Amino acid sequence: MRLQLLSDLHLETEVFEPAPAPDAELLVLAGDVDSSWGGLEKFRGWPVPVLFVAGNHEFDQRELTQAWPQLRERCTHLGLRLLECESLVLTDRSGRRIRFVATIRWSDFDLFGAAQRARAMRAGGYFVNIMRATRGGRPLDAAAVRAEALACGAWLRSELERPRGEWDKTVAITHFAPSLRSADPRYGAQPGSASFCNADDALLPHAELWIHGHLHCQHDYAIAHEHGTTRVVCNARGHARKGEAEGHRPLLVLEV
Ligand SMILES: [Fe+2]
Ligand SMILES: [Fe+2]
Repeated sequence: MRLQLLSDLHLETEVFEPAPAPDAELLVLAGDVDSSWGGLEKFRGWPVPVLFVAGNHEFDQRELTQAWPQLRERCTHLGLRLLECESLVLTDRSGRRIRFVATIRWSDFDLFGAAQRARAMRAGGYFVNIMRATRGGRPLDAAAVRAEALACGAWLRSELERPRGEWDKTVAITHFAPSLRSADPRYGAQPGSASFCNADDALLPHAELWIHGHLHCQHDYAIAHEHGTTRVVCNARGHARKGEAEGHRPLLVLEV
C-alpha cells in the first residue's frame, strides 16, 4: 500500500496547502494538524481515504473528555477517519490486508526509566503549560498526561501483541514517538525528551512500519530484529519560522 504522510502542519499559525500525492492509496495525518480544528476542512473530499490520529495540540485549551467526541464528530462530518486506540484493516490495490494500529499515545515519562520519571515529568510541565487543556475539569498536567499515556500504552501493547490474524502487514501510528532514537537532534537526550518519545522499542518488531509525529524534525530509520526490520518515519512539518519545515516532504509516499 502506498501511503502519503503528513503531520505537525500546525495550521493554527502555519500557511500550508496540502496536495494529494500522485498514486497514493491513503493519507495518514499523524497529529498536530490544527489546534483550532479549522484546517481539517482542507482534507474534506480528499481523493483517497484519510486516517487521522490526533496530536496533543488538537486539545489545546480544551477539556479532553468533551473534545474527543467532538473531534470524532467533526471528522465524521468531514469524511475523515479518526483513530484512537483503534485498529483497522484495509485492503490495498494488490489485495494485501494492512492493519493500522493507532493512538495518540501521549508520553508516560518513563523514557529514561522509573528512577528518572519525576525529573522527566518536571520537564514535561513545559508542554502541558503551553496546551492549557483540562481533563475532568482539572488542568491537564504531567501526571494527567502520564495517566492517559499508560492507558494508550496498555492498549497499544495488547493490540500489537495479538497473534497474527486477518492481516498481512501492520502499520503503527502514534503522535508521540516510540523510541529515543526519534529524539530531535537539536536537543538530544535530556529530561525534556521524555515529553516527546516513549520507550516503546520492544513493540517495534510487531509492526513493519511505525509512523509518528510530535518531534518537529524528520526521521526515516530502520530497526533490525528477529522478524526482519521495522521502518520508523516522521514527516513533521513544524514551524517554518524556526526552519523546521525545510526537510519536510509534502508529497512523501511510503510503501508498505
Ligand atoms: Fe507538533
Ligand atoms: Fe505534538
